[in-house]
Amino acid sequence: MNFTHLFKPGSIGSCQLRNRIMMPLYPTKYARDGKPNPKMVEFYRVRAGGGVALIVLDCPCLDYPRAYKAPHQLRIDTDEHVNELMRLLETIKAEGAKVFMQLNYPRERIVQAQMPGAKRRGDQWIVPLATAMSTAEVSEIMEILAQGAVNAKAIGFDGVEIQASYGDLISQLLSPLLNTRTDDFGGNLTNRAKFLVHLIQRVKALTGADFPLRVKLVCDEFVEGGLGITDAVQVARWAESAGADAVVANGGNKKTKHRIIPPQDSPFAPLSDLAAQIKSALKIPVAAIGKIHRPDVAESIIQQGKADFVALARALITDPEWPRKAAAGRSNQIRPCVSCLEDCIGKGVEGIGRCCTVNPFAGHEYIWRVTPADNPGRVLVIGGGPSGIQAALIASQRGHQVELWERSDQLGGQMQLAHLAPFKAEMAKVLDYLARCLENSAVTVRCEQQITDADIAKFDPHTVIVATGSRPGLPPIPGIDSPIVVQAREIYANDKPEENKIVIIGGGDIGCETADWLAGSGKQVSVIEIAPAVLARMKKIPRERLLRRLSEKGVHLYENTQVTSLEGNVIHLKKNNGAKIDLEADLVVLGINAQPADDWLQKLRGKIEKVVAVGDAAAPGNLGAALRNATEVALTI
Ligand SMILES: Cc1cc2nc3c(=O)[nH]c(=O)nc-3n(C[C@H](O)[C@H](O)[C@H](O)COP(=O)(O)O)c2cc1C
Ligand code: SF4
Repeated sequence: MNFTHLFKPGSIGSCQLRNRIMMPLYPTKYARDGKPNPKMVEFYRVRAGGGVALIVLDCPCLDYPRAYKAPHQLRIDTDEHVNELMRLLETIKAEGAKVFMQLNYPRERIVQAQMPGAKRRGDQWIVPLATAMSTAEVSEIMEILAQGAVNAKAIGFDGVEIQASYGDLISQLLSPLLNTRTDDFGGNLTNRAKFLVHLIQRVKALTGADFPLRVKLVCDEFVEGGLGITDAVQVARWAESAGADAVVANGGNKKTKHRIIPPQDSPFAPLSDLAAQIKSALKIPVAAIGKIHRPDVAESIIQQGKADFVALARALITDPEWPRKAAAGRSNQIRPCVSCLEDCIGKGVEGIGRCCTVNPFAGHEYIWRVTPADNPGRVLVIGGGPSGIQAALIASQRGHQVELWERSDQLGGQMQLAHLAPFKAEMAKVLDYLARCLENSAVTVRCEQQITDADIAKFDPHTVIVATGSRPGLPPIPGIDSPIVVQAREIYANDKPEENKIVIIGGGDIGCETADWLAGSGKQVSVIEIAPAVLARMKKIPRERLLRRLSEKGVHLYENTQVTSLEGNVIHLKKNNGAKIDLEADLVVLGINAQPADDWLQKLRGKIEKVVAVGDAAAPGNLGAALRNATEVALTI
């Protein structure tokens, strides 16, 4: 497919853009002491180098120290901070991308005591600023934002974006539900939009009509009584009249965050119809945003006239080269974002911060380089799951002669099952991608390979990478060897079981996703979790979505509950308050206790120059951990 619309140059006001692809704000939170560090610079440099036309940077603090969130937020209040930021802008621009600064202000205020509308957070009381600020403060904050635009221009940004979405301050003011003000900034739509409209006018007055300004606008809050598209169209018209040069058609608020950052249970481009409605009312360009992960989806949005630009956040985290690959007709080589919302959100991964489950290099660009090996030699990878494939690819790129041996007739390991639970279909794309990379690599792949010591001796590797995954373990529960007990991964390999009363032991992601798959059609499904809460490690958006589905399907969650024994068809449970419960089951599914399957590691130690386990064979974890570990190992051999 040719992406002629996607790669046509465009513009936002006076800002010329090399194509129609933008990276919207994704707070990397990589800054230290308010300054960009090498991790942040490299993250943005590779994305600018990958061909995106415009990047909106991590949002700097415009009112230091009063509105400063943490040292991972950029500052622009001293020469030292500004100079570092200027260097980052130069780096991005040298790669041919333009860069905008977002104007935003924290949406909450800490108050000393309880007051109407205040919520408790830890030992503090928090109120929404949209309602808490006095009329005088409204003008003060508007001026702080406008001065932010003046600073942005002086620092060298190519334009600014006003944040009027994401449930942040200005979108709260726009909302008929959240704006309870009784002054000139509350009440009817004209009043609720006044802050935004006056801010646009003020920025234009201070920076000049030529300095580009776009508005990231909430076009539907997706809550009853919230702002809807009809009012949003009117606000967009006013924004245009006030001088805005473009609108990004966003949706959702803090209660409907799954609409802003669509997870796996969302279709592609769920907000693009909002963009189309905004576009039909305006002359200035409109950008569509939200799960536009694929070039064909992006192209059709522009080709159908729904929007002039597309904004991709996660797709560019997963593959910074997305634009270049699409432009070169290599879309099938794009590393896919699978909307998992695991490693890129919240605090990311302990010790790393925000990164990506599918792209091990995200957040590591500054330290991980695929360079030729000092001593290229023969490398044997045992096991063709994702970590084995990743290790083989990197080792091969570094000049090693690599063979990948897989016992079964297919590559993928557990990934072959990962897409079977409801709404996990996108996961299959990871394996497709890795398999395609293997096809295009110099790695020799041998499936159905019965591995013997003699085979290994014949190949004579200097390094063996053991990527044989994990095997499910049996928890030490009396009666667990009952014939009604099966492992979660076993049942996925077959059709849905016919049994009706199903108890799942383990309320992590495997247990709860299996419950989601099994529940419905009259089955009674219970999940037993020893910890205080199920899905403790899952991030907020996917967790809320999954819990909602489980509740709708009538899945019973027993938290703080231990399985003490199984007797025939009865599961004996004990709550942490001592209460005892007996459940009947026709089938018991185990979703816990994976153990490394590292037999080859033990066998070959001392016999081969270097033997190392990667992925689950080293330590069972999620896909992101496996791919990162495999990459790190393959970069050091
Ligand atoms: C972890 C994370 C944090 C985000 N934080 C912000 C934010 O602070 N402000 C903002 O305007 N957008 C924020 N976004 C939203 C993105 O700009 C974008 O609207 C969203 O990710 C949907 O695009 P995508 O499907 O291409 O990722 C965030 C996105 C992610 C994934
Ligand atoms: S962690 Fe998942 S959702 Fe986030 S960018 Fe990577 S693949 Fe996409």
